[in-house]
Amino acid sequence: MNNIDRRSFLNSIAMLSAGTLIPSSAFAFGKTGKKLKVAIVGVGIRGITFWGKRLVEEYSDILEYVGLSDINPGRLEHALKYMNVSCPTYVNFDQMLSEQKPDLLIVTTKDSTHHEFIIKGLNFGCDVLTEKPLTTDELKCQEILDAERKSSKKLLVGFNYRWSPYATKIKKLLSEKSIGTITSVDFNWYLNTHHGASYYRRWHGQMDSGGSLWVHKATHHFDLLNWWLDSDPGEVFAYGDLEHYGKNGPFRGENCRKCSHKKDCKFHYDITKSKMDMNLYVANEKHDGYIRDNCLFRNEIDIYDKMSAQIKYMNNTVVNYSLTTYSPFEGWRIAFNGTEGRIEAWQDIPYNDDESLLQEDLHKAEMEQTGDKKMVSNPIIVHKNWEDFKVKQVEFNRGGHGGGDARLQDKIFVNPSAPDPYKHAAGIRDGAMSILIGIGARRSIESGKPVKIADLTDLEPQVERLVD
Ligand SMILES: NC(=O)c1ccc[n+]([C@@H]2O[C@H](COP(=O)([O-])OP(=O)(O)OC[C@H]3O[C@@H](n4cnc5c(N)ncnc54)[C@H](O)[C@@H]3O)[C@@H](O)[C@H]2O)c1
Repeated sequence: MNNIDRRSFLNSIAMLSAGTLIPSSAFAFGKTGKKLKVAIVGVGIRGITFWGKRLVEEYSDILEYVGLSDINPGRLEHALKYMNVSCPTYVNFDQMLSEQKPDLLIVTTKDSTHHEFIIKGLNFGCDVLTEKPLTTDELKCQEILDAERKSSKKLLVGFNYRWSPYATKIKKLLSEKSIGTITSVDFNWYLNTHHGASYYRRWHGQMDSGGSLWVHKATHHFDLLNWWLDSDPGEVFAYGDLEHYGKNGPFRGENCRKCSHKKDCKFHYDITKSKMDMNLYVANEKHDGYIRDNCLFRNEIDIYDKMSAQIKYMNNTVVNYSLTTYSPFEGWRIAFNGTEGRIEAWQDIPYNDDESLLQEDLHKAEMEQTGDKKMVSNPIIVHKNWEDFKVKQVEFNRGGHGGGDARLQDKIFVNPSAPDPYKHAAGIRDGAMSILIGIGARRSIESGKPVKIADLTDLEPQVERLVD
């Protein structure tokens, strides 16, 4: 990576939010030769690995951490060591902003708190990069939209899945109209009994923390759909239920470590075998009571574990979507029906794959950030009407969310001015549109009626997706 590329980083935040340029004077770095001052709030697993250690290791010549914040002082100490930085740490977020005046704030707290830090960061005058989901309900979403409109700073949403070569190939085939105009889509996502179950062990299992998997997880899937179809969602109708985890379990314990059902419970998770989880979570339970190996049959779980929705897009495409959380395998498949044919794509369907990864290791491999460059490949089928089908084999990285994680960061920090023909970059409108489908689905289940996306916030869904 040469210096000119790295120096061009000063425009990067703006370029990621394609189309809108922040004046270069927005960053101290570049103008004065100083490094970009970065602060992070939320030093859990995503914060310290992908946005923490990785930024320090890859981009230390152009940025520096000036502050870390979290409600848990023990996790803050752990973060300093893990990220190998020596900046001040803050349990008081406001104090961090006023003392350190970061140029860029990265938000990696639990989902229901994102809005608080995004809004404070924008109001203070920082550019803000938030992890998905943007937030968890429509009121907070509107507050974020209002704050961003008043601010001269930018808000970016870290949608990494778009950047994987496999997702990009689908986008390319659709953009080229290889099967004409898309009229309908079938999209099914399967979470296995390891990764799927893990959501019910933590804060994600409670609606008021993660907004349910309709928002926490499906924001990725809805973002892919919005991006692939290049149109905004207009209406959603959904069903969902909790039939497996939570109150449905045959027994329950305080947590896996102390459970008397260890031998009978197929979901038993021995956290003592994970050095990372022991250091990050167990060692710091005493500060905030965050239990990482909570019982997934505890009664307070109130999110759905089966979800199904129909989404009607503004360009008239209809989508059948489902999310399963206790599948024997982890993977997904999608089929696009077009006026001139059909595209089928899938990842990690074991019956179709040569690769033999253990189901319990799949998510670990996906989250992997240590630079493991292992490549795998999956086919995409393009079947034009009246013709034989064609198989396109697409290579992608196993680690870092199909190679999406590294490409997302490189776009921000290395090659911000590189052309973005497939509009990978995601801003506030994309962040909002993807969660509004999930929030609409929740509202539809509650009311038994379809929900119009336009009724949730003041954003007006468009036939052609607007890029902000
Ligand atoms: N893009 C992806 O693929 C991806 C992958 C994993 C996680 N994430 C996102 O990253 C975020 C963090 O997830 P995680 O798995 O690291 O969770 P985590 O539970 O490991 O970490 C969350 C951290 O936030 C802190 N926190 C919670 N409330 C806070 C508050 N009010 N103020 C300050 N700190 C607070 C917690 O103490 C904890 O350290 C989530 O929004 C999640 O959706 C995204």
